Amino acid sequence: MGLFDAVKRALGLGAPADKASGNASPPTPAATQGAPGTALPQVPGWDGPASADPERAAAVTELMGCVTHSAFGLQAYEAASFVNALDELIAADAIEDSIAILRRAALVLPDHKDLRLRLARLYMRRYDNESARRLWEGFTADDGLAAEANFRLAEIAEREGRHADAASHYQRALAYDFGYPNAQQRAQSLRSHLPAPRKAAAATVGGVEGTASVGLEAPEGYDLKHPLGRGGYGTVYLAADVVLRRDVAIKFLHPHLTRDERRVAAFFDEARLVARLQNPGIVRIYDLAVEQRVIVMEYMTRGTLRDRLSAGRALTPVAAFGVATRLLATLSQLHDAGIVHRDLKPSNILFRSDGSVVVGDFGVATLESGSAGRAAGTVLYMAPEQKRGDAVVDRRADLYAVGLLLAEMLAGGLPVGSGSRVLEPDAFLAMLPAAARDVAEPVLRGLLAVEPGARTASADEALPRVRAARRQLQSAEIVPDLMAELARFSEATGVALPDLESR
Ligand SMILES: Nc1ncnc2c1ncn2[C@@H]1O[C@H](COP(=O)(O)OP(=O)(O)OP(=O)(O)O)[C@@H](O)[C@H]1O
Ligand SMILES: [Mg+2]
Repeated sequence: MGLFDAVKRALGLGAPADKASGNASPPTPAATQGAPGTALPQVPGWDGPASADPERAAAVTELMGCVTHSAFGLQAYEAASFVNALDELIAADAIEDSIAILRRAALVLPDHKDLRLRLARLYMRRYDNESARRLWEGFTADDGLAAEANFRLAEIAEREGRHADAASHYQRALAYDFGYPNAQQRAQSLRSHLPAPRKAAAATVGGVEGTASVGLEAPEGYDLKHPLGRGGYGTVYLAADVVLRRDVAIKFLHPHLTRDERRVAAFFDEARLVARLQNPGIVRIYDLAVEQRVIVMEYMTRGTLRDRLSAGRALTPVAAFGVATRLLATLSQLHDAGIVHRDLKPSNILFRSDGSVVVGDFGVATLESGSAGRAAGTVLYMAPEQKRGDAVVDRRADLYAVGLLLAEMLAGGLPVGSGSRVLEPDAFLAMLPAAARDVAEPVLRGLLAVEPGARTASADEALPRVRAARRQLQSAEIVPDLMAELARFSEATGVALPDLESR
């Protein structure tokens, strides 16, 4: 398994062939106690892994060892593996353990931005507002991170009911990055909490300015706030759940699409099936109001992948492969359960407040109107067999869409030419940033094969390739930073590092 492999690689510190310089002490779990002569800081209160799964717990212990050890010369290759292993731990939701490791890492490498950023995001997930705030406040002076830092500080203020502070942090986030996903909407929705022009809560959208003519009625127990967007199948509103006092997103299916009772029934059946799987990579469905053709779901505070791409914020290659990894991991479970999405595209990929990637709108494609082709939505992301109207459209159509999404995230634009035709592989590979092209090529060729029979056959087959590609790119990205950090550490403490340059 990936996590364990990465840990083993991280522990390659002592591998004989690599230790010509002989400066590093051999890594054993005992190294967690630190090397002779140097008092290494321990994380206060850490008394072993919280993870119950034995393999994960072992990985946590090893990673703890790596952190201590890193002070003595965590080398380039191992450093990247360490971060990869840690990210897998985070992705596996081992929040407490990841926090413990990162706190120790922060003691050893206090200035390492990437690690502190991970810690700040984890504190958000744990609702440890106080610890998160301290870290985010430190990031507000960093131009590259000020938008996110202010957005997070606003979220914390909202959690604590300090609406005026929240509004001012949203404004600051917007000042740094006007397109910051959802900052505008959040700032706007906060206005209703602020003392000045106070609006009475409306039971239906009829009371909300500009939407009366639509005549949408909120299901009981929800107050509509404002529209979030409109798609081919419905209109989505931000709403408040009055009982639980939380924000939700409510989708009203378009009436003209919902006349076919059988399709509507199939759609709601699939929604129930998807909800039962409880996959964290899928937008949570809270409620279905079948009569009113309404779906109440989790509100994704950080918007969609489309928002992110259209704000001209192309993802780094590592982030692009990270999103593809999450998508494939989710699809793997869904496909095993016999569910095919068939409408994967940037507006259906959303981000939770903690930045995690989730897929929305499962089952919406069942509302398509048969032989007349698709009633709604875009054809751009459809697999060739879907466009042709083949009788069999299976999981491989979703894999094709993941290929297109990955290409788009990497290139900052969709690899299509005139007439919405997807470019030939050679042409779109040429659009990719040089640093990512070689790594991405085999992955993209596999996912974007025109004939389903020639395509990468399953999410499980694609996953290891995408993970390996991400790892390769991450090493290239993160190593120079870590090396500089270690050199500073060495200078400050006099602890000798092994000869890093020769590796
Ligand atoms: N759960 C959600 N949380 C936050 N915003 C959402 C949520 N679901 C949808 N949205 C927003 O509402 C917009 C409209 O969503 P909708 O699903 O109706 O259309 P679409 O995704 O653009 O196209 P399609 O109808 O083909 O899915 C989205 O683009 C997104 O910005
Ligand atoms: Mg959608």
